[in-house]
Amino acid sequence: MNVSSLRLTNRFEIPFAYDVCFGQQVFAAGNPLLATELARVFATRLPVPTLVLLDAGLAAARPGLADQITAYAAAHAEVIDLRGKPVLFPGGEAAKDGMDVCLQAVAAMRQAGLCRQSCVLAIGGGAFQDAMGLAAALFHRGVRVVRLPSTVLAQNDSGVGVKNGVNLGGVKNLLGTFAPPALVINDLALLDALADRDWIAGSAEAFKVALIRDADFVRWLVANAGEIPRRNQAVMAELVARCASLHVQHIASAGDPFEYGSARPLDFGHWSAHKLESLTSFALRHGEAVAIGLALDLCYAVRLGFVPEAEATAVIAALHRAGLPVWSEWMLAEEAGQRVILTGIEEFREHLGGALHVTFPHPIGSKQEVGELHPSGMLAAIADLDRLRQRLESEA
Ligand SMILES: NC(=O)c1ccc[n+]([C@@H]2O[C@H](COP(=O)([O-])OP(=O)(O)OC[C@H]3O[C@@H](n4cnc5c(N)ncnc54)[C@H](O)[C@@H]3O)[C@@H](O)[C@H]2O)c1
Ligand SMILES: [Zn+2]
Repeated sequence: MNVSSLRLTNRFEIPFAYDVCFGQQVFAAGNPLLATELARVFATRLPVPTLVLLDAGLAAARPGLADQITAYAAAHAEVIDLRGKPVLFPGGEAAKDGMDVCLQAVAAMRQAGLCRQSCVLAIGGGAFQDAMGLAAALFHRGVRVVRLPSTVLAQNDSGVGVKNGVNLGGVKNLLGTFAPPALVINDLALLDALADRDWIAGSAEAFKVALIRDADFVRWLVANAGEIPRRNQAVMAELVARCASLHVQHIASAGDPFEYGSARPLDFGHWSAHKLESLTSFALRHGEAVAIGLALDLCYAVRLGFVPEAEATAVIAALHRAGLPVWSEWMLAEEAGQRVILTGIEEFREHLGGALHVTFPHPIGSKQEVGELHPSGMLAAIADLDRLRQRLESEA
């Protein structure tokens, strides 16, 4: 046998499918949604060994929740084989500051005796989901995750998607995997416990995805922006559902769910957002940084001739009415004669793997990729945004 030119081709396909279900008060005694969905997803292994991982920030805001979960599991023992009480880990960016919390979650899975046929039920915000998702993806090479996202951002964006990750060495999401969840349940009642700041911040991702995919949704957001800081629940429910739906559609239909290519349409506005998050040592919430990034890239899109100035201004004013920031003093900071924010362009290029692909609305509701961001144009866009935000602030 001549093996010097042997080639073995290994080709297979694995279909991925998961549902995102919407509900209210998922752990209320008479609510069948979670038990029914778990019975469907884990039909061949019931009752499914289940470990509940709970965001400590959520648990603090909803003190009875852990007991309610335990009682719910006991009432549905034919479906849920609960392995101990819910285990709490920090939420927020602390959850994904290096591997510590992720590895603690792995230890909890081991302690609970989970195997590859088990279920990790992760209940928490986007950062918590990112860290727990990575832990579950690593444990025994992957145990299935059921997510109950508990923030606006996690319900309308991160929690319905296929990525996890933790930050390392100051680099956001340096370690992570693509790992579609087994099931996502958006319990809208969990959002009631959110601080105003997080309630508002998550709405930025709705503006983001609407601007590149759905002009009608942009008009709706502009019309309803003022209701967001008033905590109008019907408006938030529709915002979350429409935004989640656009994200799910994008992942399923755009042809690159695991991001092998360089284009990342869902990262519109994110090159500067990621930079602002790290410049502020995560004092800015992800959604807040995204709102600023969107405002800046809308100004740049005007200069590219992609979006009429009046339309960009109306959207930026709506972000402002929604209670989102559209400006950071970091836009003007300089180091060694260089505008610091612009180094985010190079970092984004590295993040994409060498070739820059930045998505802009063109026109609003549709997208276009751009292969270069010109520093002089971006500086001019920053100056445009500075003037606009001063006007918005003086009108307020
Ligand atoms: N994986 C992805 O595709 C993806 C996409 C977008 C964003 N993200 C990541 O998501 C993270 C941001 O997530 P986020 O905006 O959900 O914020 P977060 O996870 O940082 O949570 C904010 C705070 O709210 C607390 N909390 C969570 N749920 C609560 C509730 N119902 N009531 C009260 N407090 C609650 C948390 O403990 C935390 O202190 C960032 O790290 C970002 O990079 C990931
Ligand atoms: Zn984002």
